[in-house]
Amino acid sequence: MTPADPLHGRRVLLIVSGGIAAYKALELIRLLTGRGCAVRCVLTENGAQFVTPLSLQALSGEPVHTTLWSLTDENEMGHIALSRSADLVVVCPASADILAQMAAGLASDLATTLLLATDTPVLAAPAMNVRMWQHPATRANMDTLRARGVHLVGPDEGVMACNEFGPGRLSEPPAILDAIAALLSRAPPQDLLGRHALVTAGPTHEPIDPVRYLANRSSGRQGHAIAAALAARGARVTLVSGPTVLPPPPGVAAVAVETACEMLAACEAAVPADVAVLTAAVADWRAASPSSAKLKKRPGKATLSLDLVLNPDILALLSAPGPSRPRLVVGFAAETDALLENARAKRVAKTCDWIVANDVGIDGGGVMGGLHNQVHLVTEAGIESWPRLDKTEVATRLAARIAAHLAGSPAP
Ligand code: CTP
Repeated sequence: MTPADPLHGRRVLLIVSGGIAAYKALELIRLLTGRGCAVRCVLTENGAQFVTPLSLQALSGEPVHTTLWSLTDENEMGHIALSRSADLVVVCPASADILAQMAAGLASDLATTLLLATDTPVLAAPAMNVRMWQHPATRANMDTLRARGVHLVGPDEGVMACNEFGPGRLSEPPAILDAIAALLSRAPPQDLLGRHALVTAGPTHEPIDPVRYLANRSSGRQGHAIAAALAARGARVTLVSGPTVLPPPPGVAAVAVETACEMLAACEAAVPADVAVLTAAVADWRAASPSSAKLKKRPGKATLSLDLVLNPDILALLSAPGPSRPRLVVGFAAETDALLENARAKRVAKTCDWIVANDVGIDGGGVMGGLHNQVHLVTEAGIESWPRLDKTEVATRLAARIAAHLAGSPAP
């Protein structure tokens, strides 16, 4: 199977600043739209000396933005929203002046305001006279921008419009296109913006006495990876995790719990959510009456019995019909035998929408706590088997499936 084109269905905000190379931005738009990528253009005042808004609009098929002070534009899409509406911001050509403004954090026009306000990755394609490129001021600006994570393509070396030779020529549009594709294949689309995702992870610890508890081998890795993958697509994520050594992924609201009852209470407090992904290995049982004092060995007593009571089934409770049921509820089923049969039965019994059936019998039983998973996605429509994957890759795929599923429903 050929991997999907990273440009298809993606959105680029193209900032065209002043420079003779601005005409190459027109070719770039053609290449991007030809690959199914939506392009919205921002043209600076200097850029408009070289290309017209009409050409950018005709090629992109989208309105072109030129000023911070357009009431129509602000009405249609405020400049802050515009700065965040894309998967990638591309500055092409990036003049010495706009690079200097970016490095200084200036917001003097629409383009620089967007660049300051955005949290979207930025790719700059510099183009300028060789002396300007080599000037210590530009060198320092480039160091600053690189250190802040701005991606760069070019400049190339060659004869310039001013007949000088050296580095400073805008990279050719196909090379800029490749750089965009490479970045977009890394940056996931922000298709879960405005969504709330609830994820449970890790084991639960059920106390027996103040120093002992019932637990299992879950590391929390898969749940943490899913929380990170959903957050990377723009979702607001609440991660309710039992005890693990993992730090919560950045940008995720983490709630630390110990027992199944605490996990249930935290989940109930976290809904409403658009999607709930329950990966936690919740202990099915807890001690009926945990001792408040440490249990001591009794001389002559070789056995000890412990009364257990069933824990609440969080997945079944969250899946029950009602106003706070998430639109999509995804459970996990860790099995060693009759994987698919058990998973199918669990999906029906717990009334969740999907079950990710997890073969914990592979890798010599080292899946729990390990780095890989071999899963099957069990839905009403059938079963989809995924290859043995790194847990982060399972998370990425699942997040993409969730985003596609929710795409049909309005964000709250
Ligand atoms: N689960 C839950 N609350 C529980 C038990 C399980 O929310 N008390 C969830 C898990 O997070 C997982 C799914 O239910 O998403 C299936 O968990 P699993 O342990 O495989 O199934 P059990 O219901 O515990 O069934 P069994 O142990 O009998 O296989």
